[in-house]
Parts: sequence; structure tokens; C-alpha cells
Amino acid sequence: MKEIKIFSPATVANVSCGFDVLGFCLDTVGDEMVIKKTVEKGVKITKIEGYDLPLETKKNVAGVAALALYNHANPDCGFDIEIYKKIKPGSGIGSSSASASGAVFALNELLGKPYNKTQLSNFAMKGEAVASGSEHADNIAPGIFGGFTLVKSNQPLKILELPTPSNLYATIIHPQIEVKTAEARSILPKNVPMQDAITQWSNVGSFVHALHTNDYSLLGESLQDVIVEPYRSKLIPYFSEVQKAALAKSALGSGISGSGPSVFSLSEGIETAKKVEKAIQEVYAKTGIEFYTFTSKINAEGIKIL
Ligand code: HSE
Repeated sequence: MKEIKIFSPATVANVSCGFDVLGFCLDTVGDEMVIKKTVEKGVKITKIEGYDLPLETKKNVAGVAALALYNHANPDCGFDIEIYKKIKPGSGIGSSSASASGAVFALNELLGKPYNKTQLSNFAMKGEAVASGSEHADNIAPGIFGGFTLVKSNQPLKILELPTPSNLYATIIHPQIEVKTAEARSILPKNVPMQDAITQWSNVGSFVHALHTNDYSLLGESLQDVIVEPYRSKLIPYFSEVQKAALAKSALGSGISGSGPSVFSLSEGIETAKKVEKAIQEVYAKTGIEFYTFTSKINAEGIKIL
């Protein structure tokens, strides 16, 4: 294989209770990338469409991730990368991680799959760090593995694949404002009260149990974030109105997607998810802030070859 075209999906990190560890993969929105093997050695970004991002390999998240794999593999060829960016940078649905994960996935395919998914995630994290200022895999893991994932540890990187209830749908609203991940991380407290920690780890445990037992009601009850959301919700205009509107239409739960400004809701069944989407649109239509919404099934497969 000399060339590959892939779809690298958007992802939701944190999932309310699992800051920096939980994530899931979306299906309807994602970047496309075309990667070609070249005789000339090295990694080049030859084209970026959609958003204004650096072409210089070492300044581009896809380039940095690709280089991490490339330098490790030391192959007798090079790669040209074209990025058709559909996920807006700073949207909170894993824009940088889609670029980083897509690049390493594609290089691995073109090299005959020498690396497993955990190794690919490790390379992709190098790219993610360029964008967010820290190496975390909670967007990368669901993109590369698909479905729901839990990052058990960063060093060494250990990723757990969690089950995906088949009738679960996500609704996303992306207010057209930018929240930089590095800034959204800088406003978080360094210590948390013991009672909040207890609440949070009880929710993470019950959330994972709910996925394993297909218990939609427990899943909803577990979608609570008492540690990060109180700080970050201030960066998202009308956050609590969106959350209330989603819950009023029977969403299982609703929270900040990654570091925001996107907000996700999870629903049982597409009909409920669509009603939630409409209710959220009605909230935001009154605000004067531009926004974009979509509903997606959970993508159990992750990155796809087109
Ligand atoms: N877990 C990360 C955060 C996801 O919330 O800061 C965004 O990169």
C-alpha cells in the first residue's frame, strides 16, 4: 500500500466524572487525511484545508505525532500528509487528537502495522502535547480504539476498552467560541476536598459498571462532575441552561466535552437524542451566539479507512 485515506473522528473526553481518563468516540464528525509514502525520507505536511494550521511538521500536531512514530520505526521511505480539517481547533471535541491519532494510524497501516493501538496512542500523545501543553490520552484512546475507553495509567500507558451500549447516542452543541485547553487546565484547583473526591470516584466506578451492565439509568446517575465542571462551566455561556434543557428532554446526562466549549449529552435512543438536540438549539438560538449541533451514535470502531 502506497497511499491511504482515513476518517479520524471527533471524540468526547472526561465524560463528566472521568477527568483525563474517560472518553468516547463520535461518528458523524471527523477529519479526513490522505497519507502517501514517498521515496524521499522524512515527514512533510503538504496540504491543510479547512482551518489555518501550521504546515511546518514540528509545529503541527499531526506532524509531531507522525515524527514520533517515524523516528522510532526509522523506515526506508518518507510520508506526505494531507489534512482535510473538519473539526474546529479549540472546539472541545478532540480536534488536535484527531489529527495526531489519524497521522499515526495511517503511517502504521502504510508500514504494515508494526505497532499496536497502545503504542500508536503513545506516539499520538506527543502531538496532543503540542496543542494542550500536557500529555493526556483521553481523546486519543477513543479515537484509536473506538467506543468508550479508560486511561488506566499514562506511564506506562495502559488503556482499557469499555463496552458500548448499543442504543446510546450523543448530542453535541458547539458554541462558536474558542476555549484553549491549556487555559481551561490552568484554572483548575491543585487540590480537591476529600468529599468531592469520594463522590467523583464513586461516579467513575458506577459509570464503568453501567457500561458493562447496559444500565442506562445508572449511566445517567453517574454523569456528575463535582470537581472540574464548577470551574470550567464559567467559560461556557449558558452552560447550565443547556444542561437543564437536555435533562428536561430525558437526556441521561449532560456535561462539558473535553475542555469545552462543546457540551455533550448522552441519550438512550436516537429519538430522545434528537429531541435533546432540538431543545438545546432553542436555548442557544436566543443567545445571539453562533452555534452548531449534531447527534451521533457512539463509534465503536474508531478511525476508519475510507
Ligand atoms: N482531559 C482533557 C482536559 C481533555 O479536560 O483538559 C482536553 O484535551
